[in-house]
Amino acid sequence: MILVLDYGSQYNQLITRRIREFGVYSELHSHRISIEEIKKINPKGIILSGGPHSVYGENSFRVNEAIFDLGIPILGICYGMQLITQHFGGKVERSSQREYGKADIKVTEGARLFTGTPHEQTVWMSHSDKVIEAPADFVVEATNPSTPIAAMSNKEKGIYAVQFHPEVRNTIYGNDLLKQFVFDISECTGDWTMANFVDQEVEKIRELVGDRKVLCALSGGVDSSVVAALIHKAIGDQLTCIFVDHGLLRKYEGDMVMETFRDGFKMNIIRVDAKERFMSKLKGVSDPEQKRKIIGNEFIYVFDDEAEKLKEMDFLAQGTLYTDIVESGTETAQTIKSHHNVGGLPEDMQFELLEPLNTLFKDEVRALGLELGVPEAVVWRQPFPGPGLGIRVLGEVTEEKVEIVRESDAILREEIQLAGLDRDIWQYFTVLPDIRSVGVMGDARTYDHTIGIRAVTSIDGMTSDWARIPWDVLEKISTRIVNEVDHVNRVVYDVTSKPPATIEWE
Ligand code: XMP
Repeated sequence: MILVLDYGSQYNQLITRRIREFGVYSELHSHRISIEEIKKINPKGIILSGGPHSVYGENSFRVNEAIFDLGIPILGICYGMQLITQHFGGKVERSSQREYGKADIKVTEGARLFTGTPHEQTVWMSHSDKVIEAPADFVVEATNPSTPIAAMSNKEKGIYAVQFHPEVRNTIYGNDLLKQFVFDISECTGDWTMANFVDQEVEKIRELVGDRKVLCALSGGVDSSVVAALIHKAIGDQLTCIFVDHGLLRKYEGDMVMETFRDGFKMNIIRVDAKERFMSKLKGVSDPEQKRKIIGNEFIYVFDDEAEKLKEMDFLAQGTLYTDIVESGTETAQTIKSHHNVGGLPEDMQFELLEPLNTLFKDEVRALGLELGVPEAVVWRQPFPGPGLGIRVLGEVTEEKVEIVRESDAILREEIQLAGLDRDIWQYFTVLPDIRSVGVMGDARTYDHTIGIRAVTSIDGMTSDWARIPWDVLEKISTRIVNEVDHVNRVVYDVTSKPPATIEWE
């Protein structure tokens, strides 16, 4: 097991993820973790991540210095390297200038971290401060004209450090370097699989829940389906799922959820028709963040009401992923959007939260789902946000507008599937911007809605590119939407990547 300590870089879960891809279990923890906890976890190696601070800053994140006496190999990345340098008496130079992008480094002969990789190689730098003097007993493992100490090590102490980011794909030999640390230096074996993860999580859930009861927010999306399947495997009938039909679901979605889980998995599921409740709360509200909060809150209130009827529910299970947490702001990362299953929780919530997927990325959740026997159609279902069509109708949500999005979305999905593109495109849906435009139908002037098509390729939703859907497929979708959906006279295609846009429009 490799422990990664979080010093606040947006992408440092990537480190954990790369290591898991090697077949070695890895977890990201706060840098505030205690030495006792580290000992309990008993990692074979520790990585100190990058982060936005300067080691000289008054409120900068620190390292618990006892970590260096544990005798566990350590790899410092970027800020992590600077912490190591400061601790062992080297010099970090403060700089307000940022070095960002690709850089070529030269590797020192015999440098252990770089074993088997070329003398000259391209890496990804993203830093302001840098190490200008390595601590005594450290040797320089790689250099670059503007970053003379691009990597360093003290083999006896088992401490290694790099100024660049091996976890980013642009560092050509980044994976080799991480593997070198994980396998050669930390001596991990690489026999971790999703099946181990299931066993481990099932064990954890049983221990935490005991004989208490869990209520699950099942939406039918990949995340909540997998979370329900996982918890069901752990505790069977102690799990009750509540499926809230908030009136913001896609076409046919509700019935499919019931078929899959009630009939297939034989889970306890209650379907709640809460459309009126949600619509009345959303009336007159057009601010996206407020809409998200309202929908998120209402969800929990519905659960509360149902739970009260059920009596003695102790936990609320949710399919929160790591990306939801990062984007809602952890103690280290900045808030981008308040995702509904994290940021929208009301303060008076009465449950303990159970979120066993919160260390996973989307593709890992799919692999977990398959491992658990969740049907492929569900596992490969595209992501759907908790607030549903509520955030795809921009501005105020009305039933009429939801219906337009729902119908146009169904057409889009059908055509994408017919074209055989449903596995290639990560997410595709329609949105209804709050605009009307002039058109002509038959011989008459129309003044009606525009539908936006959003289709993106992505690996984990953190970044994305717009999908290059063939023109003829787009044409068919556009023609069908305009002909079959009332009150739509124009279709546009969103050609923006994330960043700078986000995947959803709200
Ligand atoms: P954005 O729009 O932030 O979306 O680029 C990234 C991914 O997250 C989904 N998404 C959500 N999922 N609750 C969710 O469970 C939410 O509130 C939420 N908002 C966005 C979005 O569909 C995309 O896959």
